[in-house]
Amino acid sequence: MRMRNRVAVMHGVNLDMLERRPKEVYGDLSLSKLERQVSQYAHALGLEARFFQSNHEGEYVDELHRAADYADGLVLNPGAWTHYAWALRDAVEVAGLPAVEVHLSDVDNREEWRRVSVLADVVVARVSGMGVEGYREALQHLKDAL
Ligand code: DQA
Repeated sequence: MRMRNRVAVMHGVNLDMLERRPKEVYGDLSLSKLERQVSQYAHALGLEARFFQSNHEGEYVDELHRAADYADGLVLNPGAWTHYAWALRDAVEVAGLPAVEVHLSDVDNREEWRRVSVLADVVVARVSGMGVEGYREALQHLKDAL
């Protein structure tokens, strides 16, 4: 039987601009540097990461629909969509894969509107406020779920 170790790491809106966002909130990595780091975390855990980013909600949904063709699990940071884009919640359900939600910043201790997560009931774990380290934790949760 093939190992279930393929992970789609999907970033949403504005995360391509990471190096231009407040460093005290999001750290100082660009998205490509963050992805390199996450790739290494994945490798160390025996997982294989593939990356996707879009600023277009429909494209993100389309990718979630495709994800089951090439991945066994999902690590999702949809950015601000997390807090209001309910179509993403349904698309994760359609994907039918174990998913972990991750945020660089501590979304539960910022503005009130960031406390809502549309993904909360379709993910196996939520990680926030740990910066890039949070992705290691998210991958570990996913590995446990696979
Ligand atoms: C974020 C948190 C969101 O509230 C915000 O809109 C983002 C990034 C994070 O990784 O901390 O764009 O998902």
